[in-house]
Amino acid sequence: MHAPKASTIGPITQGSPEQLAYMDEIEKLFTIDTEQLGDIKDHFMAEMTKGLDNERQTLAMIPSYVEGRLTGQEQGHYLALDLGGTNLRVVLVTLEGHGKFKTVSTKAKVSEELKTGPMRDLCGKSDLKLKGMDDTDTNRCVTMGMIDYIADCIDRFLTEQNLGSVDEDLPLGYTFSFPVLQSKINRGILTAWTKGFNCSGAIGKDPVLLLQDSLLRKHLPVKITALVNDTVGTLLSNAYQKPDTLAGLILGTGANGAYIEQMTNIGKWKEGATTSHEMVINMEFGAFDNERVKLPVTRFDNKLDRKSINPHFQIFEKLISGMYLGEIVRNVITDMMDRNLLFGQHGQATDIVSGHYQFETSYMSSIEADGSDDLAMVREILDTNLNLTNVDDVELRIVKRLCELVGTRAARLAAASIAAIVIHAKVDRKGADIGIDGSLYEFYPDFEARIYQGMAELLPDFAGDIRNIIRLGLARDGSGVGAALTACVADKMFKSK
Ligand code: BGC
Repeated sequence: MHAPKASTIGPITQGSPEQLAYMDEIEKLFTIDTEQLGDIKDHFMAEMTKGLDNERQTLAMIPSYVEGRLTGQEQGHYLALDLGGTNLRVVLVTLEGHGKFKTVSTKAKVSEELKTGPMRDLCGKSDLKLKGMDDTDTNRCVTMGMIDYIADCIDRFLTEQNLGSVDEDLPLGYTFSFPVLQSKINRGILTAWTKGFNCSGAIGKDPVLLLQDSLLRKHLPVKITALVNDTVGTLLSNAYQKPDTLAGLILGTGANGAYIEQMTNIGKWKEGATTSHEMVINMEFGAFDNERVKLPVTRFDNKLDRKSINPHFQIFEKLISGMYLGEIVRNVITDMMDRNLLFGQHGQATDIVSGHYQFETSYMSSIEADGSDDLAMVREILDTNLNLTNVDDVELRIVKRLCELVGTRAARLAAASIAAIVIHAKVDRKGADIGIDGSLYEFYPDFEARIYQGMAELLPDFAGDIRNIIRLGLARDGSGVGAALTACVADKMFKSK
């Protein structure tokens, strides 16, 4: 793990009476005590059962069609494609058996224009390219569609790796990290966009068919054999090395979890016999409690939600994931500014911090890690990124405390989701491994320690030994290696049917 330790300052004790009163209220709003966390965990478990028994529930509990467990001996060459966060990645994975693998990959940025543009190229830009027209011609077209951008990236990667003209189609595991209702291991329907993506013409469609069509038009020797959620990939990549893996989580830009369920518990399963008595379930837990029955949603969270591209949806994700935490802190900061409680002195320029999403979650990480007496790093972050100069000591401490509160709440809520999975799966003292990927888990100071703390409160029987029983660990490259493993499982399932 690379995350530094947090240096926590705790509740604010110095400041004007108005500042102290305000911070007192904030402490109450953002603190979730053991009892409340227990209620949330209980509600989470009830929602899991509802989602397993019925279609169209808030916790979608989507069967992934990944049946059974890995042996660690899986081998072969697979392509993996990862779409769902800041970057698009194409990966060539070589599974070597004994839990070992090698990867070669390439990364391309997914711009805001692509994220919110058309899914498919509306003017056939890529066809024009194939016909040998130059960029001046193609630039006259509307924005390039997401799918054709992806196919272009795959095309370039295959050429770089000398795989452009192989005899047999290369199997590709497609990690598409959005809510997809699967109907086969390589088929499904996108039900909603999340994490700031909003491409037109994609909802209700099968992301595999869209991409396969584009690959065919480019004559690329690639066959999409598996459609994978990143949590499912994370679970599998963890399981490749740790056979006692129960669940995979993403705690990064977005948040979600997958775990291994007994077929007999999936009441809504109507598709007959499977090759195993277990199946991986993609929970889509970012949507947990969209009804706001138990989650302590504050006015700052509501403000963020209202201004998001998906108001009312993904509320749990909005409280716990990297895309949003900074914005929640910023909402408190701007509220304090409006009340003259922060940055009011010396004609401070506050235009940057007033801008939507200008306070990034990565700032929170640096601020939380600052253990210096004079909070030099907090000062530096505010100065360099937000042009806030002349910030006094009380203000520095307030900003740091806000980060602690919002960051801790996120980790404790994540703990509630893991505890719910653990209790639901009846994990005993032999314990279970849980693979986690994502920037918050990897880099946010003490995020993991705070999850353990929350879990110890919710699982008192394991409390003294929680780290040895519920073994959280960084699952590297779940989206790449996990997709390759899913493609491999798909192969095995196909052959055994
Ligand atoms: C998506 C999930 C995904 C998670 C983590 C959420 O927004 O709905 O499918 O697993 O982000 O990437």
